[in-house]
Amino acid sequence: MKNPLLPIKAVITGIKRETEDTKTYSLSIEDSLYTARPGQFNMVGYPGVGEAPVSLSSTVSEGNFQHTIRSVGRVTEFIDRFNKGDVMYVRGPYGSCWPLNSAVGNDILLVAGGVGLAPLRPVIQEILRRRDSFGMVTLICGSRSPDNILFTSEIDGWRKDIAVFLTVDEVPDGMNWQYDVGLVTQLLNKTTFKPEETFSFICGPEIMMLFVARGLFIREFLPSRVYLSLERRMECGIAQCGHCQHGSKFVCRDGPVFLYKDVSRLPDGLL
Ligand SMILES: Cc1cc2nc3c(=O)[nH]c(=O)nc-3n(C[C@H](O)[C@H](O)[C@H](O)COP(=O)(O)OP(=O)(O)OC[C@H]3O[C@@H](n4cnc5c(N)ncnc54)[C@H](O)[C@@H]3O)c2cc1C
Ligand code: FES
Repeated sequence: MKNPLLPIKAVITGIKRETEDTKTYSLSIEDSLYTARPGQFNMVGYPGVGEAPVSLSSTVSEGNFQHTIRSVGRVTEFIDRFNKGDVMYVRGPYGSCWPLNSAVGNDILLVAGGVGLAPLRPVIQEILRRRDSFGMVTLICGSRSPDNILFTSEIDGWRKDIAVFLTVDEVPDGMNWQYDVGLVTQLLNKTTFKPEETFSFICGPEIMMLFVARGLFIREFLPSRVYLSLERRMECGIAQCGHCQHGSKFVCRDGPVFLYKDVSRLPDGLL
């Protein structure tokens, strides 16, 4: 049986700069049986440097997949210096996934903040692949500024099949911006939903997820259909070390995707 703690080599077959501090790495591993569901993550790193949990930002095809990584600290700054052809190490996939199969036949609302769009991109790819399986699909995406938005070269393509609303906190002087300015919660008023028929998947800073979830409940979304992806510091990724504990839950094993109602009102969280 495969040792779940054993990292494997992932060759970088392409690198795309998304924003000033974020790049998307196309990776290829030798394990053609490797598979992951949207929302799951790998522990990504390099021997002697360390590891960090990183969501898959694409679906997986024959050992090929992508990670979109913001350079913020020890591991991610090390990876930021990699070039095409270099190797990073991954182990996984770990954790829970967005419940796309349960959402079949329903509407879906995706709400992303900043790099939180990365774990939702495989959901979008999967929806586009089997578009007829879902009803109305809406993406609301917020960023600090227009040059912080991920996957800009793909968003216009997504608009052919799903409704996309973009908003930013601020627009630098002189920059052209045709979409909204303000909080993602304000955009909830811009579209009409059928709350009892809509699954919502939220990913972004915890404070944003809190206010989006509250906004949805005010609009009578069902607590059994509002999901979010939680971030916690991780070491083992397999529920052995306790680093990621959130109340009685291990974010690495029971999450990162949770029903909002299962992780709200716990002592160590904002939610
Ligand atoms: C399930 C999951 C999925 C994720 N997916 C992605 C993804 O797709 N893309 C992505 O870019 N990121 C993702 N992250 C976030 C990423 O794992 C973190 O940013 C990680 O900390 C980066 O590791 P690092 O070693 O580069 O940075 P670190 O050295 O860990 O530093 C990161 C930040 O944390 C602060 N910090 C360092 N040590 C501590 C400490 N002990 N306590 C509190 N704060 C500390 C640092 O000052 C810095 O601001 C995900 C996290 C989780 C849990
Ligand atoms: S990361 Fe070790 S228990 Fe979750």
